[in-house]
Amino acid sequence: MKDVLKHFNLNQKRLGGFNGTWLGGGKPLTVTSPMNDKILAEVETVTSESYEKIVKAAHQAFSTWRAISAPQRGEIVRQLGAMLRLEKEPLGRLVSLEMGKPLQEGLGEVQEMIDICDYALGLSRMFSGKVLPSERARHRIMEQWHPLGVIGVISAFNFPVAVWSWNAAIAMICGNTILWKPSSKTPLTAIACTQIAAGVLEQNKCDPAVCSLVIGRGAEIGDAVNTDSRIPLVSYTGSVKGGRHVGTLVQQRFGKLILELGGNNAVIISQHADLDLALKSVYFGAVGTSGQRCTSTRRAIIHESVYDTFMRRLAQVYEQAVIGDPFTSGIHLGPMVDEGAVETMMSAIAKIREQGGKVRYGGDRLKNLGKCYVTPCLVEAKPDLPMVKEETFAPILYCMKYKTIDEAVSLQNDVPQGLSSAIFTKDMQEAELFVSSTGSDCGLANVNTGTSGAEIGGAFGGEKETGGGRESGSDSWKAYMRRQTSVINYSGDLALAQGIQFSLPSGK
Ligand code: UN1
Repeated sequence: MKDVLKHFNLNQKRLGGFNGTWLGGGKPLTVTSPMNDKILAEVETVTSESYEKIVKAAHQAFSTWRAISAPQRGEIVRQLGAMLRLEKEPLGRLVSLEMGKPLQEGLGEVQEMIDICDYALGLSRMFSGKVLPSERARHRIMEQWHPLGVIGVISAFNFPVAVWSWNAAIAMICGNTILWKPSSKTPLTAIACTQIAAGVLEQNKCDPAVCSLVIGRGAEIGDAVNTDSRIPLVSYTGSVKGGRHVGTLVQQRFGKLILELGGNNAVIISQHADLDLALKSVYFGAVGTSGQRCTSTRRAIIHESVYDTFMRRLAQVYEQAVIGDPFTSGIHLGPMVDEGAVETMMSAIAKIREQGGKVRYGGDRLKNLGKCYVTPCLVEAKPDLPMVKEETFAPILYCMKYKTIDEAVSLQNDVPQGLSSAIFTKDMQEAELFVSSTGSDCGLANVNTGTSGAEIGGAFGGEKETGGGRESGSDSWKAYMRRQTSVINYSGDLALAQGIQFSLPSGK
């Protein structure tokens, strides 16, 4: 533990702001590990004066960064990826130490960062606009994509480093600079990433404020970002409640938004499913990261003919859940992020019980391991119970029966959130229906693979209360740019569009 902190110079009091130099001045933040409640470090948050200096520097950095060619920016992001390859082990450890996910998942998260850097490098030579036919002879219409400016990235604790990298790597090759406001629960990983990025930028004689950092409370520093008209885009990952707040503030000033909010992700298990596959996937989806992914499986919608078998087998798997500290090899669940998260889980279980849900397994604290450890909870519930429609960021899985595939699809869709969904079936008609326009209404709809673990190559995000934003792959880069449409007239005449005739009065 000490080695990892020392490796990133976190074994001393650190300042939580960065614009090329480290700045602070605000209240201290004591960071403890959910693993054993031990204090890891102290971070000084930024004041509004520091914030101001940081935004100014990020703006200044934009003026030079956007002038570098896109492939050259790609080359710098490639070097960031190379550095992350070298730092994968310590950074993965720091992720696990600070937020509690199993080491395997911590390392996997850093792998996502590496992958998005590779992706961004390729993209830096590929993003393109269109050339379109003009209605006028000897005219051409073209579209170009230009960078926006300073991008505000407000990230959550659960993917404390990957979410920054999906935004930062893409935004950087597009020519933007980044102002990162990480979750106050995970400031150390943010400091480590910022340090790594600064090293790469400095080595390339670029302004390190391209990747700037502001650590502070959401209500102060987060809202400073949200209301700051110098920040043309805010990319926010967090709860629906948080997104409603951020969205309203940013929209009021006509800023752009990428919102990645809650999910209430369901898996349909058909009578035509490979049950072994479905079992493994539902279990991992529900308990992985202690149910603290926005893509975690929260509902299982099971065909009545396989319901009893599936539930019996799933309960057996739950009984064998391996729970322990993040560094014990082979564990399925580490601790939850903090005691507040455990409280939220316990109150959700009490509520679902009141509403008529039946706890089939788990939902207990494991005080012998520490304050933040729980057993994952398996609940049988009717689909219309109010708690089933809510996202609880915890390892609770609501299981329910269906009769027809149409019923299953409408149950899947009948929640306010729309992030991820999956069906397990070998029946081609069911699979195609599920991904069709009359199937799942989510941003992610998978067949024979689970709701979590999205790859970086696809566009990531969801509909309805999930917020509608898209990050990482495909054409998500467009959200980080402004589109400019230009008409080029090489005719020598002034031909007006829409057939308008216009001549000047004669005379000199
Ligand atoms: C999140 O939980 O905010 O799909 C993101 C997944 C990960 C990302 C989750 N690639 O599970």
